[in-house]
Amino acid sequence: MDGALHPHDILRWYLEAGVDETIGETPVDRYAVSSRAREQQQRPASAPPPDPVPDRHHAPPASAAVAASAIVGTAAHIAAGCSSLAELRVALEGFDGLALKRAAASTVFADGNPEAAVMCIGEAPGQEEDRQGRPFVGASGKLLDRMLNSIGLDRDTAYITNVVPWRPPANRKPGPDEVAVCLPFLSRHIELVDPQMLVLFGGAAASALLAKAEGINRLRGRWFEYNSPGLPRPVPVLATFHPAYLLRTPEAKRDAWRDLLMVRKKLDGGGR
Ligand code: URA
Repeated sequence: MDGALHPHDILRWYLEAGVDETIGETPVDRYAVSSRAREQQQRPASAPPPDPVPDRHHAPPASAAVAASAIVGTAAHIAAGCSSLAELRVALEGFDGLALKRAAASTVFADGNPEAAVMCIGEAPGQEEDRQGRPFVGASGKLLDRMLNSIGLDRDTAYITNVVPWRPPANRKPGPDEVAVCLPFLSRHIELVDPQMLVLFGGAAASALLAKAEGINRLRGRWFEYNSPGLPRPVPVLATFHPAYLLRTPEAKRDAWRDLLMVRKKLDGGGR
């Protein structure tokens, strides 16, 4: 005898120890299983079968996608009906289609001069912007002011807004569905201002308005054209780094400075 146990001996030992079930290799959520079983027991025989258990790795149910596209449609309809900036501001203040708005203290519409040649677009208000109701008034706003000053611009000679006019909780990045709802308002905003050029600060503004798959590192420092049916002509648009990124990454300021010089050159009639 080599001392090795026979499988029957092991089984008997398990049974005596009270083990009465073998377990699979993948874990089973017994709470979910038993609550669904309870629901099924309580369901009348004529009721339709329940939806499959939602899988958090898959897309939201079709009804959520339909609801989201209906909100975008409503936003587009409202924005298209605005024929002045004052009307657009009132429409945004009255819009109720985005949960972000309920958590925000202000609708941060814009600052600066709507007659200016340059329209600057950032991502979304932060805490200080939400408190004051004006875009770019916190730490990154101070840097934006210095960036604009460096090419001879300020809030009298530039107009400033954001892709999303409501502060996302905890300053998180706005989600693509939130951007999609705000985009019709932003497009109308651009049409009503009809600027000579657009300067986009950061990846959120760049991907919202340039509709390109590349990130800000590749998009910055290049002139594109922005087109919209309500604009008399295509508007030159340049993306650069967001001032909040430059505060965290000072070595990127050199590239941002180059981008700003491109803006100055174009304003002076120097093209690219
Ligand atoms: N960051 C932005 O993108 N916009 C603001 O208004 C403030 C900070």
